[in-house]
Amino acid sequence: MAVANEIILPAARLAALENRDTLRFAMCGSVDDGKSTLLGRLLAESGVVPDDRLAQMIRDSRKHGTCGGAPDYALLLDGLEAEREQGITIDVAWRYFGTDKRAFIVADCPGHAQYTRNMASGASSAELGVVLVDARAGVQTQTRRHTAILAMFGLRHVLFAVNKLDLIDYNHARYHAIEQECVKLAHDLGIAGADAIPVSAINADNLVTRSANTPWYTGKPLLEYLETVQVERKVEEAFSLPVQWVNRPDHKFRGYAGFIAGGRVAPGNEVVVLPSGRLSRIAKVIGGDRELESAEAGQAVTVTLTDQIDVARGDVIADPALPPEVAAQFACHLLWLDDSTLLPGRRYLMKLATRVIGAQVTEIKHRVDPDTQAHLAATRLVANEIGYCNLSLDAEIAYRPYKEDRRLGGFILIDRESNATVGCGTLDFGLRRDSNVHWQQLDVDREARAKVKGQAPRCLWFTGLSGAGKSTIANLVERRLLADGFHTILLDGDNVRHGLNRDLGFTDADRVENIRRVAEVAKLMMDAGLIVLVSFISPFRAERQMARDLIGEGGFMEVFVDAPLAVCEGRDVKGLYAKARAGKIENFTGIGSPYEAPESPEVHLHSDQESAADSATRVVKLLVS
Ligand code: ADX
Repeated sequence: MAVANEIILPAARLAALENRDTLRFAMCGSVDDGKSTLLGRLLAESGVVPDDRLAQMIRDSRKHGTCGGAPDYALLLDGLEAEREQGITIDVAWRYFGTDKRAFIVADCPGHAQYTRNMASGASSAELGVVLVDARAGVQTQTRRHTAILAMFGLRHVLFAVNKLDLIDYNHARYHAIEQECVKLAHDLGIAGADAIPVSAINADNLVTRSANTPWYTGKPLLEYLETVQVERKVEEAFSLPVQWVNRPDHKFRGYAGFIAGGRVAPGNEVVVLPSGRLSRIAKVIGGDRELESAEAGQAVTVTLTDQIDVARGDVIADPALPPEVAAQFACHLLWLDDSTLLPGRRYLMKLATRVIGAQVTEIKHRVDPDTQAHLAATRLVANEIGYCNLSLDAEIAYRPYKEDRRLGGFILIDRESNATVGCGTLDFGLRRDSNVHWQQLDVDREARAKVKGQAPRCLWFTGLSGAGKSTIANLVERRLLADGFHTILLDGDNVRHGLNRDLGFTDADRVENIRRVAEVAKLMMDAGLIVLVSFISPFRAERQMARDLIGEGGFMEVFVDAPLAVCEGRDVKGLYAKARAGKIENFTGIGSPYEAPESPEVHLHSDQESAADSATRVVKLLVS
């Protein structure tokens, strides 16, 4: 995920901090919780904000602060707000500050529901999560959601900053109740280290020094807590280099470039290339334009190998003594980010380290209720929901479980059409089922079966609204083909739903599964050497694309049987439109459920303008040509 930088420190001061122990923390909370004020105040109180910037903030507060003219510390983070107003997309604002004891890198995660993706990207690189809680409201759904995301991204330590204590009159009993609820929430989510501090960002209570307003609080003030908290630091010992690109300027040089994800590497080291499993040795390690004696995690390098073996972008070059694992199916935690719904069976792209590969969720084991953390049954995930899922990839990849290695275990899902990041997740473990099931080599193949039939297998995929005329035209096409001696099969939606797909209804999730199954069946029928006619509404572009990918570009012909909804409704052969209008059928295509028309079908028929016989002739002509 992209990162925007805003450096509040003068560069010289930052440089001085560079060699210091550094804590990376993610700060989560809504604007209303006072997150910007808290962060601004913390920066000011820790003495890192230059005097002129402070003076400017005080002047600005009189003009357009939100504190009635008093200093509005949130204005110290103004740059970010301005970016936001201009509509510039930012995932996370990274802020840097430090004290004599520690340097801090803060992932400032905007907290509105629509910013869950920012939280995820902040959490995935943090060592500590700081969750802001408004003392007046206590633990909210948003608090639970944020904490659940921190837990999902493997944080072992969370601090709840219970803010606006002045607004509950520094009431100890109220604070104590919130503290207990917070700690229980963290423990329920498997976060062992949970602490809370009562603060008031406006009044600087318990930020840098302990406040006289909370004599009952005996713990550390916030800054001291941050300076001293011990977080678990996992350093990946084993060398791994996810290959970002293969550098081949000429036939003599072949280098593999990327950032070292863990461990160190030197010329002469034995390595394994995954997922292929081929072994080789490092010949050279190059950084910039120099040959290096060695390089370590975080460095950008190009390595060359002593053997001419096949290494592609997305492969991982690793230490053969402690190699990443290899699998194509996984159990994973998935946080859904997009307004479109996650549907099992729909095809996405997965990006893990440098590998991009086709992926689908095959099953949602459960989703997590944000309020109770209960595991609920689910057939889909909507934005901001977390689910535990099985994930299936088009091929094997090198990975490590996320809890062992964030870089080789964290992934995002990408929409194939829009290229948007629609989900992110963490791999839990590889499912062994695929390694126990092998491809059986058969002597008779598709080509041989097709040859005795004297034809080339094809798939004619008829799509369109109910009543558009798909089945009528497909039926005519099949009769003509049969008459001409072709071997065919017609798979019709209504018929297949009586048998193989009798367990499926008409929700989006069921339609995706309906099309997945029939595409697989069509492929098998093509393996039998047949010309396959598929006549399904198949309303979603994504699944028609999936069928096209599965069957292969050359063998797939999309036939769009087009007629205006009003015309189909007027025909209403089965009386279903009338029922749908009367509210007796839910999710009826064109009425309660969308139909996404093909953008560039191989054949576009207008069934309201030409006869079914003429349409069939056109299809047969195109097929035979
Ligand atoms: S698809 O959308 O999943 O591809 P499919 O082609 O299998 O649909 O089945 C469509 C047929 O089911 C329609 O021709 C119609 O007879 C019947 N049907 C029953 N309920 C619905 C519904 N809600 N939406 C569309 N078709 C329905």
